[in-house]
Amino acid sequence: MLPKINTLSGYLYEYQKSVANPEAFWENIAENFYWHKKWDKVLEWDRDGHNVQWFVNGKLNITENIFEKNLFILGDKPAIIWEPNNPDEPTVTLTYKQLHEKVCQFANVLLQNGVKKGDRVCIYLPMVPEAAIAMLACARVGAIHSVVFAGFSASSLADRINDAEVKVVLTSDGNFRGAKSIPVKAVVDEALESCPLVEKVIVLKRTSIEVTMKPGRDIWWHDAIRGVSIENKAQEMDSEDMLFILYTSGSTGKPKGVVHTTGGYMVYTAYSFANVFQYNINDIYFCTADVGWITGHSYIVYGPLLNGATAVMFEGVPNHPGVDRFWQIIEKHKVTHFYTAPTAIRSLMGYGTEPIERHNLSSLKVLGSVGEPINEEAWHWYHTHVGKGNCPIVDTWWQTETGGIMISPIAGVTPTKPAYATLPLPGVQVIIVDNEGNELKGNNVEGNLCIKFPWPSMIRTTYGDHERCVNTYFSSFKGLYFTGDGVKRDADGYYRILGRVDDVINVSGHRLGTAEVENAINSHPLVIESAVVGFPHEVKGQGIYAYVVLDAASKNHDPEKIKASLLAAATKVIGPIAKPDKIQLVTGLPKTRSGKIMRRILRKIAEGDATSLGDTSTLLDPGVVKEIIEGALVPV
Ligand code: WT7
Repeated sequence: MLPKINTLSGYLYEYQKSVANPEAFWENIAENFYWHKKWDKVLEWDRDGHNVQWFVNGKLNITENIFEKNLFILGDKPAIIWEPNNPDEPTVTLTYKQLHEKVCQFANVLLQNGVKKGDRVCIYLPMVPEAAIAMLACARVGAIHSVVFAGFSASSLADRINDAEVKVVLTSDGNFRGAKSIPVKAVVDEALESCPLVEKVIVLKRTSIEVTMKPGRDIWWHDAIRGVSIENKAQEMDSEDMLFILYTSGSTGKPKGVVHTTGGYMVYTAYSFANVFQYNINDIYFCTADVGWITGHSYIVYGPLLNGATAVMFEGVPNHPGVDRFWQIIEKHKVTHFYTAPTAIRSLMGYGTEPIERHNLSSLKVLGSVGEPINEEAWHWYHTHVGKGNCPIVDTWWQTETGGIMISPIAGVTPTKPAYATLPLPGVQVIIVDNEGNELKGNNVEGNLCIKFPWPSMIRTTYGDHERCVNTYFSSFKGLYFTGDGVKRDADGYYRILGRVDDVINVSGHRLGTAEVENAINSHPLVIESAVVGFPHEVKGQGIYAYVVLDAASKNHDPEKIKASLLAAATKVIGPIAKPDKIQLVTGLPKTRSGKIMRRILRKIAEGDATSLGDTSTLLDPGVVKEIIEGALVPV
């Protein structure tokens, strides 16, 4: 276990120390891990080209820091408690010793299937223990995992596989989610039609639906592991060797592969987990995220396991078989730490408190929130009804690119304030700038959220395109990492995240680029162009509002049918999460004379506010705004 901050003055002291001398601060934390060889230098930083290295020339394997380092003490302690989609199916518990054996065995399977250090392996699996085993087995042999959320479409999967030049895909026959069963392997088969580099597919049997297995390429997981040794010597990795790639959306159409490396990511996720959640060795921690997102990587798999934690992993959804499923799981496993997303809280609020009152939640000590801003109402409901007023809420702000939690209360230490992520963790040097890049000093300011000094788990590059990384994150404001979020620092110096200031929308905690959704809609043959914006949505946080201009040929079609086929296009190209909530068919889009779509106007209309559109008389076709307002799908 890592040393933990346990008082507010302790936090302030650590924070000061981390700013005064970041290298000494992180070196001290890194000393708690097992390295084959320690670093020559803590930090190497070329600010202009964004080349950052932590624990330079250090040698290690992250899985030895989960297993070998702690097995003596942790061997029989549960590492993962797996709760299946169907509550009548048995729970599976894997102790550290058992998980270690399974990871080593699967590492051997990867090696036997030609996976070498540095190769990319795509993991497209549901929330089953094998997802964690697969990630750790990759890390064990030095392969770079790229987990793709199993809800993404075949074409999204194919793009990610090709971008990373993946050699082996790990998947399942199907996937249980609530009352549905999803044919996962069939999606993989479709994707692989356009992925010539994939050599092997290892298929886990989960739902027992019929699948086609391609001879020479596809192997069953249970066949692959049969008779394989449970002993494996970990591959020695450099601190800066890639640990994984995780694709995320930005303002442009093409998702980018965010790259995290071994040493810094390990140190930061372990440190932030221990401190933010104040995890103690007998606690039971339950994070409801999917391993397909960064939350699952950092705070289901790596952060908790590096701390010897017991983590509950849940296959299903919050409303199956009943809307009390989360509360039932908390009661059943005596969960002490519960970490979920505001969208889940808001949707469960809709059923009142009766489903909660059916269960004994007295084991709970800490509640967490992640993925999007939590509104005051949801915060209070969570605090009062789930936490019974006794559990601190850690509203954790961070991103795929930051690797770990950046701004958050430390449970029980930082006084909380509803809807505020509160204060940065040690090592996180927040700076707020205006649109011209001038620092906004002092309190009571609002602007663009940037970070001015590297932290160990920061994004290293975007896979295969370093320039894109520099342009996206380090070019808006010179010398600073720009998060894409707006933020307010209040009179107490507390931070409140205001949401994205770029063309990214956050739907139920899932990040989507508006351009990505537009590309999907534009793939429809009757569409000339489209503009997608976010709008406030009671449950999802933000919903998707699409303004679509159709071809003249559409006159012969039923508009409702066209809308349905646009929804189908979004599902096919990206996945069900990208389905617009509202589609307004329009004859044109508001554009400047230079042809740029005025998204600000479209956002305002989607919010139902036509009062502050500004001067629209200089638009290419001012009449179009009036038409859009009249046809708007919200009262304007
Ligand atoms: C974006 C990052 C971090 C893991 C899950 C999402 C938003 C995230 C919060 C929070 C307000 C938040 C931001 C950020 N966000 N956490 N506690 N309060 N907003 O990771 O998909 O990379 O999305 O999610 O807008 O930029 P992601």
